[in-house]
Amino acid sequence: MRIGVLTSGGDAPGMNACIRSLVKAGAGRGHVVVGIERGFTGLIEGAAIVLGLADVDGISRRGGTMLGSARCKEMMTPGGQARAAAQMTALGLDGLVVIGGNGSLTGAHVLASRPDVKAPIVGVPASIDNDLGCTSLAIGVDTALNTIVEACDRISDTASAHRRVFIVEVMGRHCGYLAMRAGIAAEADCILYAEKQISEDDLVDKLRALIRSSFAGGREKRRVLIVKAEGVLVKTPRLVERLNAHLEEDAPGVDIRETILGHVVRGGAPSVTDRVIAQRLGFGALQAIEDGVTDVMVGWEPPGGVGEKTADGSIRRVPLTTVLEETARLLDGTSLVTQGRLRLLAQVEGLLAL
Ligand code: F6P
Repeated sequence: MRIGVLTSGGDAPGMNACIRSLVKAGAGRGHVVVGIERGFTGLIEGAAIVLGLADVDGISRRGGTMLGSARCKEMMTPGGQARAAAQMTALGLDGLVVIGGNGSLTGAHVLASRPDVKAPIVGVPASIDNDLGCTSLAIGVDTALNTIVEACDRISDTASAHRRVFIVEVMGRHCGYLAMRAGIAAEADCILYAEKQISEDDLVDKLRALIRSSFAGGREKRRVLIVKAEGVLVKTPRLVERLNAHLEEDAPGVDIRETILGHVVRGGAPSVTDRVIAQRLGFGALQAIEDGVTDVMVGWEPPGGVGEKTADGSIRRVPLTTVLEETARLLDGTSLVTQGRLRLLAQVEGLLAL
């Protein structure tokens, strides 16, 4: 078989390990693996190269994606979708693996649903945000968490030396998962996430109370760490400005600073966990294509055990429609997974400030 692979949307550490597993397993099983450059943009343009074993030597340890990625607006148009479908035929693809997040899997589903696309299309979840339905983890999440915790630990060192309040903003788009998990691991005093709606004034009051109690006699913390998800509507500099206006009164002698980690969170060498799940998901995707299964995502230990079992006990094949519907619920808060995440945090939230 001639199997295409592309990485699309925001890159995620571990994408390369996934590409490598497809190329290695593909070669071992007699397939040709074709790398498509720059996501759906490259597919529409027919930018493809056959990947040999030597091309993927040593790439597992690298962040980013060797194929390049793009957020392809054209793929959202009927014209772009038709061109992508035509290129699949022109490139002689017998299957396509799409590695990416919500937008990329939507693109995969649109293509797989077209009558002129005969080759199976399989999605692999990859997004640092962990905002995809029907997979406990997406490729890149574990590395991003480790990066955030390491950054917070470093900030805690300097913050403690100066008795400072730090607000650290982390990526995650509309999803607070990274802030929640990393905040707990980094001993944050407070975690702010968009899933909990709170007005700007209430937020300021809550943080002022935290600062007062943290530095009050009898407690005297060395630092206060506030981990804030980027989805929270109040901008971090504005929050700092408003807290700063009361700082002399709330905690005399204490300073406040901010760090927006931004794209630092998305880069870097993938963790062991990300390499391992990426390799296994890549192999799982290849097997799905060999079996002629299309319009599915290979999910890592999907919550609730949805999807069809595979030989790998941690991987299930879940229809992309199911994945996309659950992803929408995950983001609008109606998913049991989101509610579970909030419940878990609610149990400890009151303790963080102590
Ligand atoms: O989806 C991954 C992500 O890194 C989000 O956390 C973030 O909001 C967004 O991508 C940033 O996108 P871009 O790199 O296009 O600015």
